Amino acid sequence: MENVYYPLLTAHNWVRWLVLLTGIWALVNAFMGVRSRGPMTSRAPFSAFMGSIHLQVLLGLGLFAIMGMNGMAPFPDGPRSSFGWEHLGLGLIAAVFATMANRAAKAPARAAPVYVADGTPAPGPTPTTVSDDITRWRSALFWTFLTWVPLLLAMPWWRPVLRMLGTE
Ligand code: HEM
Repeated sequence: MENVYYPLLTAHNWVRWLVLLTGIWALVNAFMGVRSRGPMTSRAPFSAFMGSIHLQVLLGLGLFAIMGMNGMAPFPDGPRSSFGWEHLGLGLIAAVFATMANRAAKAPARAAPVYVADGTPAPGPTPTTVSDDITRWRSALFWTFLTWVPLLLAMPWWRPVLRMLGTE
């Protein structure tokens, strides 16, 4: 059983740093975008933040399942007996908010080109406008900021900074 628990726990521990680093990247990027009011040419920081949290949720669910099957309560060293459920719930909420941030950063859908009766294509889809980009930056900043709240509350800060398999 420990063959699975410690490798999974170690992966979950390391991916936490990926979550925090991509989260800082997304937050700084969104903040700079709102300030500069420039065009949003890439949403990589928001996709990376969302993707790393989704990976963390999958690893966490695996841990929960493995521990449950072996009668181990999560976080016996936690500040309260409910911390395991709080950690799960807050992690899921963070995943939803990060998904909203990534969605907010997507360019709005544009209408397909229209063809006039004689077969000549009408002018192509309207390009994204400056005000579209400002809305995207603001909305991405809002959801990214909101993601940080459950993320920081869910973090078991007393656990090892970088776990090396069985190390306590
Ligand atoms: C999304 C953000 C999340 C972050 C940043 C995070 C972070 C962490 C960290 C740092 C640990 C301690 C690792 C160690 O002891 O080395 C941990 C443990 C754990 N997490 Fe998460 N987690 C998240 C989400 C989740 C979710 C959604 C679940 C469940 C579905 C989950 C289940 C667990 C379990 C079962 C443990 C082990 C508890 C134990 O060893 O007693 N985590 N988590």
